[in-house]
Amino acid sequence: MGKQILLGVTGGIAAYKSAELVRELRRQGHEVQVVMTSGARAFVQPLTFQALSGHPVRESLLDPEAEAGMGHIELAKWADLVLVAPASADIMAKLACGLADDLLTTVCLATEAPIALAPAMNQAMWRNARTQRNRSLLVEDSQFRLWGPEAGDQACGDTGPGRMLEPEVLVQEVAALQEQPLANLRVVITAGPTREALDPVRYISNHSSGRMGFALAEAAAQQGADVTLVAGPVEQPTPTGVTRIDVTSAREMKNAVDWAVAAGTDWFIATAAVADYRPLAIADQKMKKQAGADAPVIELEENPDILAGVAGRTEQRPLTIGFAAETRNLADYARDKLSRKGLDLIVANDVSTPGLGFNSDSNAVEVFWGGGSERFEARPKRELARDLIRLFHSHQNSRPA
Ligand code: PMT
Repeated sequence: MGKQILLGVTGGIAAYKSAELVRELRRQGHEVQVVMTSGARAFVQPLTFQALSGHPVRESLLDPEAEAGMGHIELAKWADLVLVAPASADIMAKLACGLADDLLTTVCLATEAPIALAPAMNQAMWRNARTQRNRSLLVEDSQFRLWGPEAGDQACGDTGPGRMLEPEVLVQEVAALQEQPLANLRVVITAGPTREALDPVRYISNHSSGRMGFALAEAAAQQGADVTLVAGPVEQPTPTGVTRIDVTSAREMKNAVDWAVAAGTDWFIATAAVADYRPLAIADQKMKKQAGADAPVIELEENPDILAGVAGRTEQRPLTIGFAAETRNLADYARDKLSRKGLDLIVANDVSTPGLGFNSDSNAVEVFWGGGSERFEARPKRELARDLIRLFHSHQNSRPA
């Protein structure tokens, strides 16, 4: 079904491709309105976009004529999708900061529609740490999608990343955004740490923040899945459309997972860092330090393995995906867990690298399955989650019915 697409055009040589983009989007049945920045005018005449879109081009936030018709708030509400192509380094910086100093940035701040950016700039500008920081901020924000850039020869004579994706590729991205490839799929995800009580005030736990699991829940829900998220004690906001069950201990997490899986699920994804052991006894009262006494010895007993339990189901067994956080011998330990727990896939993260894995915004992983593996270099967890969901989906499709 055709969408109402607001195309933002910023200054850059790739702006000439946006004319073709308008034509392609309309060919696919979408209605397009164009907002140009002052920089864009240096490359393409507004009249070109007016002729191709069939709408007057909007340029100024304070254009009294336009304000009388469709103001920036109405434009923001009109759009089902805001697509900024080309997106310059400048607009990425402004959007990352939430600036609203012209019509395009104001619409982007006022709209609730998804905002897709097709970056285009010189390769050195793209590689610059400040641009990469802005890119990370935007990817972390669930309202934004980054499409491209691709690498290749540039108009300035350089070679490298920074070329805007071709209009036909951007049109495919728009089509994919509308699809709900995981519609009717039920997904259960565990996230965060567990806490194993020692006494009323102390517990054994770990540094998991829940971010990886929450990012996967968000990505699966955005693609149409019915997601149940069993969360240990974490501070993360619940992603839109996700059913959340809060638990504290490993045994509570197991009960919640067993209940959700028995109700019917297609995928089980275990990102939680579950405590392998719990204290054998929980003291009723806070344990007191005794002057002169030996340090207390805490006896532990093993927790149930939630993931192995799901993987071992003989009936209604979902596609079962584990995570492995390792500090050494990543591939060997991950493959061992894959076969020992009877999993379909395992996502291994090397948590010895500072800034990746536990309690961080980014992760780098290698995914292993019976017939192969795939590596995903460091990227924001939200971006990684979308990549992983795509990979899991391809495995779901290749499963025997
Ligand atoms: O939460 P974040 O801060 O975003 O960090 C994400 C993460 C690093 C915690 C995550 O990416 C990750 O690697 N999770 C697995 C952590 C781990 O230590 O796994 P494990 O090797 O202890 O267990 C292997 C698998 O078995 C995991 O899928 C785990 O959920 C599961 N398991 C383990 C023990 C147990 N009793 N029950 C389980 O289900």
